[in-house]
Amino acid sequence: MLSRARRLGLRGFGLTRFRSPDRLLASSYAMDLGALRKNYRGDEEAFEEKHLASLDPIKQFSAWFEEAMRCPLIGEVNAMCLATCTRDGRPSARMLLLKGFSQEGFRFFTNHESRKARELDCNPFASLVFYWEPLSRQVRIEGSVERLPEQESEKYFHLRPKSSQIGALVSRQSTVIADREYLRKKNAELEEKYKEAKVPKPAYWGGYILKPAVIEFWQGQTNRLHDRIVFRYLQDPSTPLGPMTHRGEGNWVYERLSP
Ligand SMILES: Cc1cc2nc3c(=O)[nH]c(=O)nc-3n(C[C@H](O)[C@H](O)[C@H](O)COP(=O)(O)O)c2cc1C
Repeated sequence: MLSRARRLGLRGFGLTRFRSPDRLLASSYAMDLGALRKNYRGDEEAFEEKHLASLDPIKQFSAWFEEAMRCPLIGEVNAMCLATCTRDGRPSARMLLLKGFSQEGFRFFTNHESRKARELDCNPFASLVFYWEPLSRQVRIEGSVERLPEQESEKYFHLRPKSSQIGALVSRQSTVIADREYLRKKNAELEEKYKEAKVPKPAYWGGYILKPAVIEFWQGQTNRLHDRIVFRYLQDPSTPLGPMTHRGEGNWVYERLSP
């Protein structure tokens, strides 16, 4: 398997030669990142509307997700970026793991007191981005976010490894702490406490579901004429459509966007 640096074309740019972080930083400052260009696929592999696995974007997502799962170069196919926004419009983004998806939406688990959760409390809209680099594919999903029912969070919490359950008890996510030792000590205490006992799910830990209103499939191409097909969910399916908008399954419509 090619090294990550090699796949990214970073060889020859100094990133693989230097081990010291200072030198790495110094060399990357001097680097022309504009020269980092990746060639995507050939035009013969264009992603046309006829190549959609389904006109239901959840089924289309499922088809791409399965292909990504089969790709040995992708380590964490369910890693995604979640962007949230404060009420006054300041965005923040972080990586999370997708823990399930269905016609209802996309599920993830986190701490209900974390920064993202506080942002979702006052602005329940978010966006998810998946990037499967070896396949030159990106999926963007936007929608409203709701907390999962407590029983669902409870059920999933106890499916996690015990160390992760204790980790959730240890960490009041996104709060300031003195040092790493604080976490180490608290972790050791809780491991001892729950050695023989079931770990209770803390009230501040649980799941969310993002209900999609927009799902965009992006397929990179060699010639920069990348393919973008975006599905929009119509609240009112009788809404008249423009000449370049097509009906998908259910309330979904789809369009091609310029790259
Ligand atoms: C690949 C990856 C997966 C992650 N998965 C999760 C996750 O599923 N849930 C979670 O709460 N944090 C996860 N994190 C940590 C988050 O990126 C983030 O640090 C944390 O949720 C706190 O974010 P916040 O302060 O913006 O709320 C993950 C980080 C990485 C790099």
